[in-house]
Amino acid sequence: MPGRGAERCAACAEVPVPPTLLKMDVAGAVQVVEDFVASCRRVLITGATGLLGRAVYKEFKDKNWHVLGCGYSRARPQIETLNLLDTSAVKELVEEFKPHVIVHCAAERKPDIVENQPDLAALINVGASENLAKVAAANGAFLIYISTDYVFDGTNPPYREDAMPNPLNLYGKTKLEGERVVLQNNEGAAVLRVPVLYGDVEKIEESAVTIMFDKVQYSNKSANMDHWQQRFPTYVKDVASVCLQLSEKKLQDPSINGIFHWSGNEQMTKYEMACAMADVFNLPARHLRPITDEPVGPTPRPLNPQLDCSRLEALGVGQRTPFRVGIRESLWPFIDKKKSQQTMFH
Ligand SMILES: NC(=O)c1ccc[n+]([C@@H]2O[C@H](COP(=O)([O-])OP(=O)(O)OC[C@H]3O[C@@H](n4cnc5c(N)ncnc54)[C@H](OP(=O)(O)O)[C@@H]3O)[C@@H](O)[C@H]2O)c1
Repeated sequence: MPGRGAERCAACAEVPVPPTLLKMDVAGAVQVVEDFVASCRRVLITGATGLLGRAVYKEFKDKNWHVLGCGYSRARPQIETLNLLDTSAVKELVEEFKPHVIVHCAAERKPDIVENQPDLAALINVGASENLAKVAAANGAFLIYISTDYVFDGTNPPYREDAMPNPLNLYGKTKLEGERVVLQNNEGAAVLRVPVLYGDVEKIEESAVTIMFDKVQYSNKSANMDHWQQRFPTYVKDVASVCLQLSEKKLQDPSINGIFHWSGNEQMTKYEMACAMADVFNLPARHLRPITDEPVGPTPRPLNPQLDCSRLEALGVGQRTPFRVGIRESLWPFIDKKKSQQTMFH
């Protein structure tokens, strides 16, 4: 009999099985308890240094999956450096790690940057996604491609999964093209469209939601806030949980594929989100000014791209954290202590 702890899980030869999870059958052969085999699922996460990818990494790790997270410029210990534009490096990594699931979070997702660097954005959002779809198909991995509500023009909400897309800006166009190349090259893959995201940010500028917090906190200056575009702010922890739940369903039912939507269900303009932040932290909101005109700028945005999430709901997949709960968890590290004490105790 091999030494205790030297056993390897049948599903994941790279992970030594903890001795407490080994048992001996009547013939004296060592077996791994079923729970551990079940937990020995491997997931590869691209964009694991980004806003959503960090939450997805944590969610799978917390549920005892064997997780390999990849980043690029922000890769750090525990995270593999992988340039997704290097097609052979991607192929090599997938062939070596043999993931059951790949959650593809990496993208260029800032609409203004996409407009200014369209070629690079197309390489990341389309070219790298196409390569990953082919590599995932060749290696039998379930690919979840994260997409966006910006594939819709926002004139006729809510949008079902089979609604006709019509992106208004180049970001939405590249993400839609990414969806197409993924589904063309990998028929078992899933596309998961999500709206504007917020969560544990490294700095408040990292999310289009949390970025408003400085304007909320520093109430000595009046601040104009968009009150035209209808948004459904969605907590990255909820999307991460949806990715995990969908992966577990797929492992039970290989016929699951195609387009899915997930979204928070509180409709808010940026002005309304800012007022909610002020309320959560007991800050004044009188300096916040709602602007009801359509914003002018080089990058058009949809008025109301609300996502209908029926397909995931029918599968019993989902998680929704109330905005006030999620935004409090996300922003409390950034609260200016002096400000909050003044308002809370006067
Ligand atoms: N944020 C939102 O509000 C929002 C809304 C709807 C949909 N989405 C979609 O959700 C997904 C995740 O977005 P996010 O907000 O988490 O994005 P993010 O914070 O901007 O992160 C982007 C990730 O992509 C990685 N990346 C960029 N270029 C790469 C390359 N050449 N090779 C390897 N990795 C590369 C970055 O790595 P490094 O930073 O290490 O370089 C980073 O981890 C995207 O598909 C996005 O389109 C986001």
